[in-house]
Amino acid sequence: MYHLVVFASGNGSTLQSIIDSIDNHQLEAQIDLVVSDQADAYCLKRAEAHHLNTHIIQNKKFESRDIELSEVLSNYSIDLIVLAGYLKMIGPKLLEKYTIINTHPSLLPKFGGKGMHGMHVHEAVISAGEKQSGATIHFVNSEYDKGNIISQTKVDVLPSDTAQTLSAKVQTAEKLQLIEVLNRFVHHEL
Ligand code: GAR
Repeated sequence: MYHLVVFASGNGSTLQSIIDSIDNHQLEAQIDLVVSDQADAYCLKRAEAHHLNTHIIQNKKFESRDIELSEVLSNYSIDLIVLAGYLKMIGPKLLEKYTIINTHPSLLPKFGGKGMHGMHVHEAVISAGEKQSGATIHFVNSEYDKGNIISQTKVDVLPSDTAQTLSAKVQTAEKLQLIEVLNRFVHHEL
């Protein structure tokens, strides 16, 4: 079995799509742990509803968070860590030990970097008058949204789009793309 750990900070709809894909046999994997930096995040409720192990990060500082996470994760046999709407920087202890991927709701390198997450991204795309946006899945390195790109999916930005409608379109495309990418990992194609 292919072992995943999912990091999330907010709503957790991306986590939910991974859970659903596993339940529907569209992804032959299991989620061993869900990690969140936000104790009251809805992603944790989703995890608990599916009886998944959870860990809420206690340390706020970068170095101590890295130490805490490397200790917690050492209890698991992990094939891949998926950042699914997780907003904190990943530290060197995790980067040296694990393969880590991130989903980002824009066509990187556009609209990436610190502070560029969730709805902020879609608002910036609309303000810039972009004709296309999309989702990027990339390897995680020590800089926000700068790791090697694995896959991108494009969506059209229509004149009638708002940040909300664009977000909905991108998230739909992003979830399909993520499951496809996860399947490539499971089948050792990545
Ligand atoms: C997703 O669209 C993901 O790409 C984005 O946050 C959303 C999480 O939604 N991630 C980032 O912006 C990271 N820079 P969710 O909490 O419903 O899964």
